Amino acid sequence: MKEKDVLKILEEVIDPELNMNIVELNMIRDIVINDDKISLTFLLTTEGCPLKEELKNNVVQLLKKNGFKEIKINLGTMKNDDLKKISSSLKSEKKEKEKIRNIIAVASGKGGVGKSTVTSNLAVSFKKLGYKVGILDADINGPNIPIMFGIKEKPEAIDEMILPIEKHGIKIVSLGFLMEEESNAILWRGPLISKAITELFEYSLWGEIDFLLVDLPPGTGDETLTVGQSLPLDGVLIVTTPQDVSVLDAKRSAYAFNKLNVKILGVVENMSYFICPENEKEYDIFGSGGGEKISKYLNIPLLGKIPIEIEIRRGGDIGKPVAILNQDLKSSVEFINIAKKIIKVLNVS
Ligand SMILES: Nc1ncnc2c1ncn2[C@@H]1O[C@H](COP(=O)(O)OP(=O)(O)OP(=O)(O)O)[C@@H](O)[C@H]1O
Ligand SMILES: [Mg+2]
Repeated sequence: MKEKDVLKILEEVIDPELNMNIVELNMIRDIVINDDKISLTFLLTTEGCPLKEELKNNVVQLLKKNGFKEIKINLGTMKNDDLKKISSSLKSEKKEKEKIRNIIAVASGKGGVGKSTVTSNLAVSFKKLGYKVGILDADINGPNIPIMFGIKEKPEAIDEMILPIEKHGIKIVSLGFLMEEESNAILWRGPLISKAITELFEYSLWGEIDFLLVDLPPGTGDETLTVGQSLPLDGVLIVTTPQDVSVLDAKRSAYAFNKLNVKILGVVENMSYFICPENEKEYDIFGSGGGEKISKYLNIPLLGKIPIEIEIRRGGDIGKPVAILNQDLKSSVEFINIAKKIIKVLNVS
């Protein structure tokens, strides 16, 4: 067997993160064959590659299957020049094959009303309904999505291309990944934010995605609008609580997106009521009717009402959205219903 035969055999091994085979990625080098003995160098893109052992094992198995008895594999890491080459093939792959069907932003006027919670749980719900889902956490002030999904690691970057972190079947990229320390956010304004978000979007390898949810910063200030303008949004969801201040801010947010010509898909009322676990009575902690008011006023659908549930908060804190944690909870069921309504509003098949 010759070197080129071995390369042909090894084309079968796919790097699942990059979705290309290890030969076209130029990962196999220095092949030396001596009868049924073979040694080769296997270069990975990063030393801490989580798939290291699995990939190596695949190579060994294939070589064994093809008659090699003594197999020596030297693992190594690529140098910058190699990475640049891969990055440029990834870029052309991305151009050719990437498909992001619907980009939906999640916005609110007031902070802390549950945008990130709604983003996470809707993402999980779309996934449960069989769609491919991604999240772009574009909250410059407090990127919370990694916490809500229990992500502690930074994503792998190959030159300038970013591999989203996949958690609970959802591809996740966060502005938080770009920040070394939270305090850095203060330095980021206007054009820089826009650039960071556009880059995050454009340099991430999304592959095929039916729904990309974008978690926005609160408010209708420059930051939010910059994000709104930086991405090709198909629509925006407005999150509010039932109380009047939140409603007022939500309206402002809706106006702002109207001005940007972004379609408002509907409103989600969060923290609508609290069901007391002891007597199952419902309490309107933040008042009532906010979602209905906005829906009527702006003539947009009220997509659903999410109760206050301890499990929602707990899920957010432990990195497991409630829609995964407990599927029978009222909120989990409601999130699925909202996802279904969005699918209808967007005419997705
Ligand atoms: N329906 C709910 N029941 C219980 N807790 C909730 C609910 N919705 C949100 N929370 C909790 O309230 C807090 C704020 O929610 P979240 O972070 O989703 O809001 P946000 O609008 O994204 O905030 P920010 O404006 O800071 O980005 C979180 O700790 C979250 O777990
Ligand atoms: Mg948030």
